[in-house]
Amino acid sequence: MTHPSVDPARLAADVLREHAPGFAPRLGIVLGSGLGGLADALDGAVAVPYAEIPGFPTSTVAGHAGRFVLGTLEGVPVACMQGRFHLYEGHPPAVIKLPVRTFAALGVEALLLTNAAGSLRPEVGPGRLMIIADHLNWMWTNPLVGPNDDAWGERFVGLEDAYDPGLRARLRALAADLGIPLAEGVYCALLGPLFETPAEIRAYRVLGADAVGMSTVPEVIVARHAGIPVAAISAITNLAVGLSAEPIDHEQTLRGAALAASDLTRLVRAFVASFAADGDGAPRAAASGA
Ligand code: HPA
Repeated sequence: MTHPSVDPARLAADVLREHAPGFAPRLGIVLGSGLGGLADALDGAVAVPYAEIPGFPTSTVAGHAGRFVLGTLEGVPVACMQGRFHLYEGHPPAVIKLPVRTFAALGVEALLLTNAAGSLRPEVGPGRLMIIADHLNWMWTNPLVGPNDDAWGERFVGLEDAYDPGLRARLRALAADLGIPLAEGVYCALLGPLFETPAEIRAYRVLGADAVGMSTVPEVIVARHAGIPVAAISAITNLAVGLSAEPIDHEQTLRGAALAASDLTRLVRAFVASFAADGDGAPRAAASGA
């Protein structure tokens, strides 16, 4: 067990608080590849590059800015990660504990994760949004491997309803109000940085995957260990390999993310606003879910 005063996530949260004294985010948001623009819409934004936060590695991926941005959206105080850490960058899985626990140390009530993903459903094409209902962890590792830190959570973590059913219902209702077509499905997390082979995609379809990507699941696992409710949205940037004639590369991912950005921004804004509507601004227990 780590003493709270030396826990790296608490140190990181202290540094963020020094940049924004008195700021208490109610929601943590992780913005994926090509989706970082939302952080630029925050009011009163304070941006802190990861390089200035103790223990944080720097993000190496094009389309990822690599900073925490604190500010209000729809009147609700939020903390955003503009750019995330991926296992394919060579980070040890345990690195993912730090940013997620930093959100927890800041006192967020829930975490909203976004990512860019390839769709295995031909009818859900580039520009569409999919809320994640469940996942397949084909990264074959996770950040909790190693000694357990009892200060954050229990050794063995249940992942039933890892994607909070109440928050998913809220997203569905908001999308319906906004007229945004929303798919819901299983996200298969892969180590990357390779895009898949057509044979792999056929196999993942048989296994029940609706989308593939290279992130998010490690963050979900750390958040659930700490008892933070999670919602996650994939921006579909392309049809997975073999489902379309178009070649897949990172440029195409960023183009697809741009297609989805407007719907994603509208949905995230409405989701954030719903926290203002359902709360009195007082911090509540992290495990409250919907
Ligand atoms: N495969 C894996 N990750 C991805 C894809 C894909 O097709 N598109 C966006 N991220």
